[in-house]
Amino acid sequence: MADASRIAVVTGANHGIGLEISRQLARRGLMVVLTSRSATKGRAAVKALRDDGVVVDYHLLDVRSPVSIRALAAYLSERHGRLDVLVNNAGVLLDPRGSRLLDAKPKTFRDTLETNFFGPLQLVQALAPLMKKNGYGRIVNLSSGLGQLSDMGVGTPAYRVSKTALNVLTRTLAAELNGTGILVNSVCPGWVKTDIGGPNAPRTVEQGADTAVWLATLPDDGPSGGFFRDRKPIPW
Ligand SMILES: NC(=O)c1ccc[n+]([C@@H]2O[C@H](COP(=O)([O-])OP(=O)(O)OC[C@H]3O[C@@H](n4cnc5c(N)ncnc54)[C@H](OP(=O)(O)O)[C@@H]3O)[C@@H](O)[C@H]2O)c1
Repeated sequence: MADASRIAVVTGANHGIGLEISRQLARRGLMVVLTSRSATKGRAAVKALRDDGVVVDYHLLDVRSPVSIRALAAYLSERHGRLDVLVNNAGVLLDPRGSRLLDAKPKTFRDTLETNFFGPLQLVQALAPLMKKNGYGRIVNLSSGLGQLSDMGVGTPAYRVSKTALNVLTRTLAAELNGTGILVNSVCPGWVKTDIGGPNAPRTVEQGADTAVWLATLPDDGPSGGFFRDRKPIPW
């Protein structure tokens, strides 16, 4: 099947890396369903893409809301009848600047996990069945080097825990879906100039989106259950 008939959902895609992933996937010919938790911000992103000659579909999605996730699943079934690519991009970094685990509030961990872990968990549970129907799927989880156990350090403890948990989801789901045609991988986009990355980050959103787009369009014999940066495997 050509890329042009493929349907891709990108979460948290109204700005930052998610918007750029949407742009690049649409330019490759996929039908992208750009999603955002704010309809106003989402519509503005869709218009900005259209002004650049890039056409995408749109649906509201708050990844913390099971009702919102169910509504998206119903929309995909009714409107498109399939799903080929899910990019779990939406994320938050809620740790206060300079935060340390010993001083961190449990609520910061709960709120962070709600978006960065339970969001992707509930999305794959709702949407993987649509992929299974066609024996094809690419699930890409936007993780971070801050979630690497092999390089664990001080600072942003809630964010680190959430990204390590997301990596466990990647490994477990990849094993569970082995042989179904659905490939599941984690990506670290590097340190990218966005709201989360801040103004001093060295990478552009174009650079940050590249490996996620590559994983979203892997050939059938591509890897599954891996963690990648710059299209190369990195340690967990
Ligand atoms: N930038 C980096 O250096 C870096 C490094 C490693 C990993 N990452 C990861 O890359 C991903 C994209 O981050 P970014 O740098 O592009 O940050 P960003 O510009 O802050 O974008 C984050 C996006 O997630 C959305 N979002 C947050 N909570 C949501 C929810 N409950 N439901 C739906 N959308 C929600 C935000 O929407 P609103 O506009 O409504 O807030 C925004 O569109 C994140 O998972 C992040 O952890 C980034």
